[in-house]
Amino acid sequence: MSKIKFAIIGNPISHSLSPILHNYWFKKYRIDAEYSLLNIQPDEIEKTIDKIKKREIKGINVTLPYKRSVIPFLSKTVNDAKQTHSVNTILLDENESIVGENTDVFGFQAAYLKSISELEKKNKRVLILGAGGVAPSIILALIKSNFNNISLSNRTYEKSLFLKKKFQNINIIKWEDYLNKFDEFDIVINATSLGLSKGNDFSEKVIRFKKSLIYIDTIYNPSQTKMIKHFKLSNIKTHNGLNMFIYQGQKSFYLWNKINPEVDDDLLKLLETKLSL
Ligand code: ATR
Repeated sequence: MSKIKFAIIGNPISHSLSPILHNYWFKKYRIDAEYSLLNIQPDEIEKTIDKIKKREIKGINVTLPYKRSVIPFLSKTVNDAKQTHSVNTILLDENESIVGENTDVFGFQAAYLKSISELEKKNKRVLILGAGGVAPSIILALIKSNFNNISLSNRTYEKSLFLKKKFQNINIIKWEDYLNKFDEFDIVINATSLGLSKGNDFSEKVIRFKKSLIYIDTIYNPSQTKMIKHFKLSNIKTHNGLNMFIYQGQKSFYLWNKINPEVDDDLLKLLETKLSL
């Protein structure tokens, strides 16, 4: 019998570590499957998703820029995908419906929020930088974890207002103002693409910030963005996006295979060898 097939669709896609993650777990749990990268154009989304119905592919992950644009080609979105309008996992359910799920919300919660106490969640002030593809998942993860003081700032103001319509309790800060207000926040999350390998970066250094700040970067490649390096010099607690990536993958794997795969040391070592410093 031929291998069961899984894939991630996006464009660009070559940087994705998802094949390494899932193929590691397939081997570990002795599942005869393979997970590959599919770099597709917008007009190829429909026929690629159709392969799930034809059982040529069992599961699809979706990354930028298609997390929203896959939705019209699905039978339905459920749970966090419904609330965020952002789909990163596609599967066929028991009624033969093509279902869009979101595991980024779980990924963010599992990676960074579990260790924060309920009291702290109520009091901590959180700032999200960016309003692109990953922002709605981060907002929902924070809301589901009972954070109730969430601000967001984005270069294009209209895009923050769009998110405010959906998540009415968030405060919007103008992009010109976030640096001046940075020291009001306990947790700052970079959800922009600033700091990616070969991409643009933040143009100004953050000078004033709380000593107790927690800085979370959704970027994992490079493993330490300039912003992370800058904060580390001041002994600020920082996280890169690797854990969020791993935990979103863990939940996708569970949805497809009904096995909750372990995040073990060998996996972490393997992923770290694939990242640039
Ligand atoms: P998309 O915007 O298509 O959803 P994304 O990669 O999900 O793409 O999001 C990129 C995020 O990084 C956006 O918040 C974007 O801000 P804009 O909405 O203003 O485009 C932000 N971003 C990208 N380049 C930036 C830059 N040079 N300065 C500030 N923010 C930037």
